Amino acid sequence: MQERLSEIQNQAKEDLAKAESLEEVERVKTKYLGRKAGVINEIVKAIPSLPPEQRANSGKSANKLKQEIGTWIEERKSEFNTSAEVSLTLPSLDVSQPGEHKSYGHRHPIVQTIDEIKGIFKKLCFDIEYGPEVEHEYYNFDALNIPADHPSREDFDTFYLGNPPGPIRAGKRLLRSQTSTVQIRVMEKKKPPIRMIAPGKVFRPDTVDARHASMFHQIEGLMVDEGVSFGDLKYVLTLFAQSYFGQDIKMRFRPSFFPFTEPSAEIDISCSICKGKGCSVCSHSGWVEVLGAGMVDPNVFETVGYDAEKYTGFAFGLGVERLTMLKYGIDNIRLFFENDLRFLSQF
Ligand code: PHE
Repeated sequence: MQERLSEIQNQAKEDLAKAESLEEVERVKTKYLGRKAGVINEIVKAIPSLPPEQRANSGKSANKLKQEIGTWIEERKSEFNTSAEVSLTLPSLDVSQPGEHKSYGHRHPIVQTIDEIKGIFKKLCFDIEYGPEVEHEYYNFDALNIPADHPSREDFDTFYLGNPPGPIRAGKRLLRSQTSTVQIRVMEKKKPPIRMIAPGKVFRPDTVDARHASMFHQIEGLMVDEGVSFGDLKYVLTLFAQSYFGQDIKMRFRPSFFPFTEPSAEIDISCSICKGKGCSVCSHSGWVEVLGAGMVDPNVFETVGYDAEKYTGFAFGLGVERLTMLKYGIDNIRLFFENDLRFLSQF
């Protein structure tokens, strides 16, 4: 019996050494350890017919061999498993192939302009603030000294939203039509001195044409302190325009009116698309209005609880699409929102 077992041991070793694949190892396993016709099982079945004094020892030896063969099989299997992984990964790497170009996309031109303007004002120590796009009438109109009968409050100039059930807190809900709302929200929270800009989307039911869209972007500016003058406003805006467009930029201040600033001005930039000759973007005037500005009206200071005798300030609001159009010579605002990659990928 012992002889037969050591024969089996040698044979199994040999068979396993010859096996060249996982399937062949499996075959060796079935041959020796198979439940039905496995070599070891056949031996075990024969034990009861041995003389009684041999039975116990033979049983032990057969069991030991069974375990031994089992361990060898597992060892051989693990060799094939790792080499199988290697053979799977190797052929896919062909170092002679040219590299694949992956396109990651980039920021939208409007976002690029906003980021550039944020950078300019950060250098002038202005904070960046944000306010909600869904606003209350109070922040969009009342607190900005805009009277109840002002035409900009009409339905055809403002997108009103249905109010949620419950008490109306600060007037009707609407999509903000200007970023001036953020002036109020910041002054409610902070005491002077204030230097901030607030970029964001605004919404107006305008008829869409080359210069108008029903959603566009503004950047609001506000500086409040003791002794802030119109000269400071002009200085900051000139510095800004020169940083954004270059030293040669032409600017023009026109007297205007906004309920929340007094005095007020509209500021035009010479049309870079037609070089001042006249085109559809500048309504054939050679100038494009890009900014509204002025000195903060004392009524606004009173509303937010600032001492209007002590503090003065300036505010401005600029149109981001207009500035981008002028800088890059884009003659139609709709291009920004049509998601045409032939246009967008140029930036
Ligand atoms: N909110 C004004 C507009 O949208 C612009 C503006 C901002 C004017 C701040 C004066 C001061 O037209």
